[in-house]
Amino acid sequence: MSVDLDRLVAALRPEERAALTAGADMWTTVPIERLGIPALRMSDGPIGARGATADHQSLTPSVAVPCGAALGASWDPALVAEASAIVARQALEKGARVLLAPTVNLQRHPLWGRNFEAFSEDPLLSGVLASAYIEGVQDEGVAATVKHLVCNETEFERYTSSSDLDERTLRELYLLPFEFAVRRAGVLALMTSYNRVNGRHVPDQARLVTEILRGEWGFDGVVMTDWWAMTITEEAGETGLDLEMPGPARSFGPALAGAVEAGRVDERHVAEKARHVLGLLGRLGLLDGAAGEPAAGATAEEHPQDRPEDRAALRRAAADSLVLLRNDGVLPLELAAPAGVALIGPRALHPPILGGGSAKVRPHYRLSLLEALRAAVGAGVEVEHEEGAGEAGIERAVALAGRSDAAVVVVGTDEVIESEGHDRISMALPAGQDELVERVCRANGRTVVVVTSGAPIALDSATGAAAVIQSFFGGQEVAHALADVITGRSEPGGRLPVTLPLRLEDTPAYGNFPGESSHVRYSEGLLVGYRWYEARRLAVAYPFGHGLSYTSFELGAPSCSTDRLEQGDALRVELTVRNTGQRAGSEVVQCYVAPPGETGRPGGRLRAPKELRAFAKVRLEAGESTGVVLELGPRAFAYYDVADTEWPELVARRPPTGDQGEQALHRSRPGWYVEGGRYALLIGRSSADIAHRLEVDVAGGDEPLDAATLPG
Ligand code: BGC
Repeated sequence: MSVDLDRLVAALRPEERAALTAGADMWTTVPIERLGIPALRMSDGPIGARGATADHQSLTPSVAVPCGAALGASWDPALVAEASAIVARQALEKGARVLLAPTVNLQRHPLWGRNFEAFSEDPLLSGVLASAYIEGVQDEGVAATVKHLVCNETEFERYTSSSDLDERTLRELYLLPFEFAVRRAGVLALMTSYNRVNGRHVPDQARLVTEILRGEWGFDGVVMTDWWAMTITEEAGETGLDLEMPGPARSFGPALAGAVEAGRVDERHVAEKARHVLGLLGRLGLLDGAAGEPAAGATAEEHPQDRPEDRAALRRAAADSLVLLRNDGVLPLELAAPAGVALIGPRALHPPILGGGSAKVRPHYRLSLLEALRAAVGAGVEVEHEEGAGEAGIERAVALAGRSDAAVVVVGTDEVIESEGHDRISMALPAGQDELVERVCRANGRTVVVVTSGAPIALDSATGAAAVIQSFFGGQEVAHALADVITGRSEPGGRLPVTLPLRLEDTPAYGNFPGESSHVRYSEGLLVGYRWYEARRLAVAYPFGHGLSYTSFELGAPSCSTDRLEQGDALRVELTVRNTGQRAGSEVVQCYVAPPGETGRPGGRLRAPKELRAFAKVRLEAGESTGVVLELGPRAFAYYDVADTEWPELVARRPPTGDQGEQALHRSRPGWYVEGGRYALLIGRSSADIAHRLEVDVAGGDEPLDAATLPG
């Protein structure tokens, strides 16, 4: 039923309009019973639906899907949508119609405490997967809330810290996943960040919230604050921010009504905010009772279900998120009874399934890797466990490994080390784990090291391992998935959504994380993640996009829909992928765009040496082949020009000497522009493993591109 929002807004009294702009309590908005407007209930996200309790102990149980980084490692939009739909159904079972997810900030620095929640270091991968996540949620009748706008990439002094960056970097990298969420997925809600951006809190900035989000992108859903984030009544009152959370109100609600009465905020802004909140209720079908009896908008009842089909889907999803970094052939394990398998490590009994903070849920059940592995290897093969903690424990683990046919060592971080609220202090494994890994690898040449974390870990101690698996916190079924992959029941389907650096000192934001004196300078600019390592020609431990399969693939010669692209055109690249190995498996075909010319020439614009612009994941039986189509949007070759309106005046003021020196192109209108030239399309299996290079002439233009396009 469509609701006449104008009439409903007009029917509200001024104080009711203002009441709609702030929460009633921790998770709900204010109901207006007089007009049949119910409260709207929300729940965190993104790993599961937490429900309406604040303290972890009293949470009702929930499914726990793979964390953002693990979903990022799947490179699979369909899988992401399947997982998020499970979360959305659980949200409904907990009486919530708004899910506070997904998190689309970028993995800018390995030590950010919330990296595990975020999909990737790359904005396109983040944007495409976030869109899938949102569609999965919203198809279930739940509003997704993309968060946190924007540059929320440290926990250090997170309410006050200012992320300082130039507009081109903001547009090309940090805003892009949000733009995807709005333009591609039609996200219904958005949460602003705690941190400031260039010195001011986001809700108070008309530039970000009103001009870009509402104006340029046309977002007409609800913009809410993060919980207890700082805002100024008069400033946020006039921007596109709608809802202050949680309640009771502080800056909005009665304070906003007071500011209107005092003439400090225009009443039409409050009406607009109320209209957005009502619009969301309407889109969720919650206004059908207006005006009369309240419709059932939100109930406090929580009846979460634990379904076998969810367990099965999440088991596949977790395996598809495991990244096989290295394998000398030991995997999948072929086991010779009776020597059996040594399962070693502090994370081996219960590999961490999630990170800490508001994304943490209480899973329906806990699965032990020991049990999962015993079930997977079957009767007749022993699996023995040794934790390996402390000197004596390491000795016992080494002895066990020495008399076993193979060893599996599980090390890494957990939800205490990686959590909202604090950053990590080092990329190293927790104390004692490096020694354990090194010594077990020496004791048994068939040692598989499993690293569980939400973000990069220094893997120096694993150089002697026969195989290394990176397991991003993989949700409730990760133990099953590990057992499946180790024994070959499943293949490891993941590819790195983030570069694994050799050393912290090599990383792009080194020296500018977490900032000082309340400012984080994003001085690496455009060169985040692989863009940085490629530009600086720095060696890495494992490149972005990397991951091995148990089978092999051939990427056939690609063809391009055109070899000359006009401004505003999209481009299709087609190729055949063949599984040339002996078993079924999956491959992720990645397409990067490399700009023409030399980076660093005078007047030239900085361009990353390559940028991910399209990808496709394919699953093939042994010997099977399939055609893959990669679509590159009109913005795939563009950069954002901030424009230089003062340039003509500056040039005019300089007395003519006949020698202006060399000059660059200065545009007077900001926007997305394409510089004409011969671009390369690099098609491969990771940012460093490029199988094919195609060239295409791309026409430049003096006019900005249609702003409504996306790069992928
Ligand atoms: C987090 C948000 C979360 C909110 C509600 C905040 O601390 O930053 O991501 O949705 O709390 O729990």
